[in-house]
Amino acid sequence: MVDNSEIVETLVTRDELRGRITELAAELQAAFPHDRPAVAVSILKGSTLFLADLARAMDAPLEIDFMAISSYAGSQGGSGVVRIVKDLDTDITDRDVLIVEDIVDTGFTLTYLRRTLAERGPRSLRTVTLLDKAARRIVPVPLEHKGFEIPDVFVLGYGMDFQGKYRNVPEVLAVKDVARLANDPLILAGGLFGEAG
Ligand code: PRP
Repeated sequence: MVDNSEIVETLVTRDELRGRITELAAELQAAFPHDRPAVAVSILKGSTLFLADLARAMDAPLEIDFMAISSYAGSQGGSGVVRIVKDLDTDITDRDVLIVEDIVDTGFTLTYLRRTLAERGPRSLRTVTLLDKAARRIVPVPLEHKGFEIPDVFVLGYGMDFQGKYRNVPEVLAVKDVARLANDPLILAGGLFGEAG
């Protein structure tokens, strides 16, 4: 059986996630007006686990909606060409909007999202991302709230995937040996998922 530690290592533990998300929830509650609910816009699919924990940590009424976008890789690995695959059901005109992301990397996706949502006339627009891979940024983009700044490593778990898998790993893992995982995406042995709590 493969030794997982040859391929992945923990980058953010469950306790660190829990602690920081509690802090972020308090930060967001203070940032939003209390007279009417904000709309959390979760960007599919990576942000779903973060959204679920963040929303439950917030002691404030919140509406939740989802958007899916797709981006096309150019020769440099990112082209900035992004399009909407699933749009919001909610009219965000004059609403306080919170974009919820799992990770900001080059910044292309968030730049597109902010521009697109700003055109709809929200009362306010903020972003919260769990992870900020700032070293990879190509387009500077405002990031009002962030959980952790991480180095330029491939990450999976806590919503983030490797070829569609491992989103349900309950912590954030860094991939040490991307080539080996790419060669056999199911190589990681049991024990990654663990018990709840
Ligand atoms: C990730 C993440 C952001 C985007 C950030 O989504 O959720 O939306 O990449 O990258 P950028 O800053 O370089 O634009 P991904 O394309 O992996 O889709 P997924 O969430 O469905 O896995």
